[in-house]
Amino acid sequence: MWSTALVRGLIREDALRSSSYSDTGYIDLLESGPPARRTLAQRAMTNNRVAAVYERLWRPIVVAALSLHGLSVVDERARAAAALHLDGEQRVLDVACGPGNFTGFFADRLAGDGFVVGLDTSLPMLERAVHDNPRPRAVYLHADALKLPFDDRTFDAVCCFAALHLVAEPCAVLREMVRVLAPGGRIAVMTSYGRESFLVRKGLELGATLCGVRVFDRTTVPAFLAAAGLLDVDQQLRGISQFVTARRHG
Ligand SMILES: C[S@@+](CC[C@H](N)C(=O)[O-])C[C@H]1O[C@@H](n2cnc3c(N)ncnc32)[C@H](O)[C@@H]1O
Repeated sequence: MWSTALVRGLIREDALRSSSYSDTGYIDLLESGPPARRTLAQRAMTNNRVAAVYERLWRPIVVAALSLHGLSVVDERARAAAALHLDGEQRVLDVACGPGNFTGFFADRLAGDGFVVGLDTSLPMLERAVHDNPRPRAVYLHADALKLPFDDRTFDAVCCFAALHLVAEPCAVLREMVRVLAPGGRIAVMTSYGRESFLVRKGLELGATLCGVRVFDRTTVPAFLAAAGLLDVDQQLRGISQFVTARRHG
């Protein structure tokens, strides 16, 4: 529980005032439930059955079905940990952590006082995270990516995987992620990519619109990070996904 105490020390006073520690093992900073109007994709993420099969079935099947992605789930985690340079006492924030599939993996790569915070709005996902991916160095929070409950420049590594395309205001999430990134810290984002072909892009956009998923072009995410003053912005395009990394001047 020492990591929970460390994390509590980082949570802003105003957010901590309304917090409670759930019996199931996460810190709850959201008094209200999810927004009333939600897309199909957002509803799926708060469904108990989806949460129960997400890590073992849903994500691998989606990745395999879109096999353009070209990376196994295991490779994806290793790539993410390498991109964030995880190897010690870092403070790591996994935004929209789902069932903690990356959070737990990252926790195993930390040492000393290093810890990772997994944050999500979905209670079924957090319950899976606590059950399936508990670690002494992992703490789970019920909180909103649009309003991260931390002071500026708090984390050495901040990431958001497979979620930016689900939120109504993705640039607001990116702004929050950059805000809480410490000097010298690294950021990594994995999200959708609409490809260059007009027909492919339109097809993807139509399917995505029906489900409530955004399809990003190749410039929006890297351009946002560069405009925010981050350095070494790098983008890897794979099938219909993009993996973007950058670092803050240290
Ligand atoms: C597809 S899952 C991704 C889980 C994990 N990061 C991964 O890569 O497998 C998307 C997650 O984003 C979460 N999410 C959506 N909007 C959010 C928000 N505003 N704040 C925090 N989490 C959010 C959903 O609840 C869901 O658990």
